[in-house]
Amino acid sequence: MIVALISGRGSNLAALLDAGLPVGAVISNRADAKGLELARARGVEAIAVEHRAYATREVFEEALRARIDGFAPRLVLLAGFMRILTAGFVERYRGRMLNIHPSLLPAFPGLDTHARALAAGVKIHGCSVHFVTAQLDHGPIVIQAAVPVLPDDTAASLAARVLRQEHVIYPRAARWFLDGRLVIGSGVVIVKGSNAGSDAQLVLGPD
Ligand code: GRF
Repeated sequence: MIVALISGRGSNLAALLDAGLPVGAVISNRADAKGLELARARGVEAIAVEHRAYATREVFEEALRARIDGFAPRLVLLAGFMRILTAGFVERYRGRMLNIHPSLLPAFPGLDTHARALAAGVKIHGCSVHFVTAQLDHGPIVIQAAVPVLPDDTAASLAARVLRQEHVIYPRAARWFLDGRLVIGSGVVIVKGSNAGSDAQLVLGPD
């Protein structure tokens, strides 16, 4: 089963549940996260481990780790979890923790990705699901989706376009993981049994 870590709205969590993925528990570092209500409404155990209640990042992570491991999940999904994790924590879940990031990595790691994409003038933007490693937003990439950047886009309109694709690719990546189809070699993910993309060409932008 899956444990999902969230901090806010939980729309990716909803997409995972809609896809029928076995999310057994949701943990938020904020008790007011809307995603906790969403989980409870769907009968999923929802827990707050509030980072503010702990004196240091390490003590917070120890509490988080204890709650996660209590469920003995096969897979941990960061779904809008807005706390930086220490290398020690990440190491514990190496090869079984995924994150969804709202950019085409390795472009735009970190925050404010949509505004930064607009400021950079990129014509294609998107989202990535990747394995979590100690370096923020840098782990092996599982799947990406691209969207066009349109001339009158705002950060909000671009974010909404990207978010629709997040909801497509995150459930797909999680399913691949649970089906044992993801293999990491030399920092690159291979999806076993997939011939997707061999002839595909993706060109997005104005004429
Ligand atoms: C998403 O854009 C995700 O990529 C980012 O945080 C946002 C979370 O949204 N890491 P939600 O809580 O899943 O609606």
